[in-house]
Amino acid sequence: MGKSPAKKDEGSKAGIRILLVDDMPEAREGIKKLLQFEQEFKVVGGASNGREGVAQAKELKPDIVIMDINMPDMDGLEAAALITKALPMVGVIMMSVQDDTDYLQRAMMAGARFFLTKPPDMDKLYNTIRMVYQQYAPLREQFERIAQGVVIPAAAEEPTGEGGRAGHVIVVYSPTGGAGCTTVATSLASGLMREGIRSLLIDADLQFGDVGAFLDLRPQATLVDVVEAIDELDIDYFENLVTTHNSGLKVLLGPPRPAMGVSIRDEKPDVLPILLEQIASYYDFVVLDVGKSIDAVTAGVLERASKIVLLVNPSLPSIKNTRLVIDWFDSVGFAADKVSIVLNKAVDPRQVKGVPPPERIQQFLKRQLEGTIPLVDERIILNAVNKGIPVIASDRDTTKSPIKELTALSNHVYTALMGEEKIVEDQEVKPARGGWFGRK
Ligand SMILES: Nc1ncnc2c1ncn2[C@@H]1O[C@H](COP(=O)(O)OP(=O)(O)OP(=O)(O)O)[C@@H](O)[C@H]1O
Ligand SMILES: [Mg+2]
Repeated sequence: MGKSPAKKDEGSKAGIRILLVDDMPEAREGIKKLLQFEQEFKVVGGASNGREGVAQAKELKPDIVIMDINMPDMDGLEAAALITKALPMVGVIMMSVQDDTDYLQRAMMAGARFFLTKPPDMDKLYNTIRMVYQQYAPLREQFERIAQGVVIPAAAEEPTGEGGRAGHVIVVYSPTGGAGCTTVATSLASGLMREGIRSLLIDADLQFGDVGAFLDLRPQATLVDVVEAIDELDIDYFENLVTTHNSGLKVLLGPPRPAMGVSIRDEKPDVLPILLEQIASYYDFVVLDVGKSIDAVTAGVLERASKIVLLVNPSLPSIKNTRLVIDWFDSVGFAADKVSIVLNKAVDPRQVKGVPPPERIQQFLKRQLEGTIPLVDERIILNAVNKGIPVIASDRDTTKSPIKELTALSNHVYTALMGEEKIVEDQEVKPARGGWFGRK
């Protein structure tokens, strides 16, 4: 049946292999002693500066690196960036006496997702290591499969399942919060609807999903109910859990409270790949709006996707994080055409000083942008949200931004996956050919 990215007890059997990087031998010893109390933790190496840490990480391929920030030669931030780039399946936990947000932000930008202050509290240290280890389980599995020469089949080429439909899974993702994922995912799911085509939108942002708010849907049932029924789920039952928007769009809403999303993430992180395995073939398109954090849930759906719409904003942090994500996708072997990078909230660099122009963004990302959606008057989006309709459907004039670009994006994705383009009936203007989305 479904792939199960996270094996719960994997760590306790094989041991969690840990590399300690700290310039103070006493600090390394101190942590090593703390870790010796628990059998599952195995300290496999110790390094006294960033450069040595990177070399040891490449050689030993630990599961976890505990990394000090202030070190001579190469500091922990630079080392963490190099490790996460070369070895995306390794979880890096930053550790420092400094407890200020600037450090935290820089550590996050360097690719570290977890932060501990020095000296660490014993329980906090254990829990953080276990949590990070668990969250990286799907990535480790992907790498093991690649190392064993098992080729990951492209989802688009998988045989059609029982439902007989195309079952294309499209994930709208950005490592940056507020990049526009919900705006784009709701519009894309809506824009892909055509006569005879079934489209499903899943709010897979488990903690702060906004799809219900954007489409003014009151949840009768949510992903929480899917988790409860996952072992005996069939399509009829699943369709009872789905909410139908006025436009006819089918929507599976996310957990109503963040804590519920956290329990799904920790206890059933593979629920979405399992669900998709069972239901995707009953739809032509399943669009998922995922949260920004790279955890087991996100990694599972990104792997399963036939197409990832990766949103980037024209700001340095967004571009930098997008670069890290592209490196990660490359290293897990995602096909280049699986990822469509779209610049959202684009502004004219001639009018706004300091904003990198699209060419510079492409240079930095070493990738072409497949589309650009301009920054529009917030009222256009608020108006759609207030009416509870996707932005793409909020104005019949499809020459207006961002309706024009969102329509073009939907048509672009439709063509890329279905091979032919059907233009919606009441559409007055065909998508721009040779424009941003006209590229193949
Ligand atoms: N092209 C755009 N022009 C202007 N505003 C936009 C555009 N796209 C999105 N926004 C606005 O940016 C904000 C964030 O958008 P949205 O909620 O879609 O992003 P998100 O990536 O889902 O965010 P979150 O991280 O909160 O889930 C919203 O207020 C939305 O109205
Ligand atoms: Mg959102």
